Amino acid sequence: METDKTPAGQSNMAQRMQQLAEQEQRIRERVAAIRHTILVISGKGGVGKSTIAANLAWALALRDLQTGLLDADIHGPSIPLMTGVRGQTTTGSADVIYPVPVNNSLKVMSIGFLLQDEQAPVIWRGPLRSNIIRQFIANVEWGTLDYLVVDLPPGTGDEPLTVAQSFPHADGAVVVTTPQEASLEDCRKAVNFVRAVELPVLGVIENMSGFVCPHCGKVTDVFGRGGGEQMAEQMNVPFLGRIPLAAEVVALSDEGQSVFTAEVPVAIKQAFEAIVERLVCDKEESG
Ligand SMILES: Nc1ncnc2c1ncn2[C@@H]1O[C@H](COP(=O)(O)OP(=O)(O)OP(=O)(O)O)[C@@H](O)[C@H]1O
Ligand SMILES: [Mg+2]
Repeated sequence: METDKTPAGQSNMAQRMQQLAEQEQRIRERVAAIRHTILVISGKGGVGKSTIAANLAWALALRDLQTGLLDADIHGPSIPLMTGVRGQTTTGSADVIYPVPVNNSLKVMSIGFLLQDEQAPVIWRGPLRSNIIRQFIANVEWGTLDYLVVDLPPGTGDEPLTVAQSFPHADGAVVVTTPQEASLEDCRKAVNFVRAVELPVLGVIENMSGFVCPHCGKVTDVFGRGGGEQMAEQMNVPFLGRIPLAAEVVALSDEGQSVFTAEVPVAIKQAFEAIVERLVCDKEESG
């Protein structure tokens, strides 16, 4: 890329650098009152990142931990729907946005709240997108939180990179995959992405791992099974557990409920619960 060496170009560049530095400072100040930050990422779209981020946040909030859930996916913001607050608007000003409360312990922020028409595609050019994401993160006033769960955009491109780099002091990232080889391949990339941004890999979750027939209870391995665990072992990162494919999970997400706040087959609840336990136990013990 050519640099504009004219006085006007240089002054634009200086202005831009200053703006970036201010944004970074604001992000640092805003996240200072957050005890733990967990990023949820995946190498590929549609593997259940938002579902897992939302259920994790519900689980933490139900333990009376002050929890924030940030939907950082500007193309497919799904967290407002999954937490039952779609259509709500945020309060605040141009520089400060307050997240939307779901209950006393859980609040959510999504770029979806800021879009006038949620169904319109978001078409912003690359650099502008990164800037909007950073500005968005810098402007959210969470207050004091025990946990912030961040649902990243899918993949390992510019946008997830911008988000991940906005949380350099995060506890780390959870990588979600499905069991089929194509997804595992992307999952390896995602693990390497987390390492490249110098964050700890908290572990791998294998989602959509086996389908429990609601009629006969027989388990069918639609996408295979166990690949996530093997991959985690090969890459020397923790394996957090597997979650089966279940129709109830889709229905609950669409209704703004979680597996912890609604009636679901015990196997599903246990699968999520075991993962949450593994993720938060040592953190709560160490403070
Ligand atoms: N264990 C599961 N059983 C059944 N359906 C599931 C499960 N996990 C996720 N889903 C469903 O799969 C779809 C994709 O899930 P989700 O939106 O959480 O994925 P994502 O990785 O966030 O996708 P994107 O990359 O588009 O953001 C949703 O309809 C969700 O309800
Ligand atoms: Mg998503």
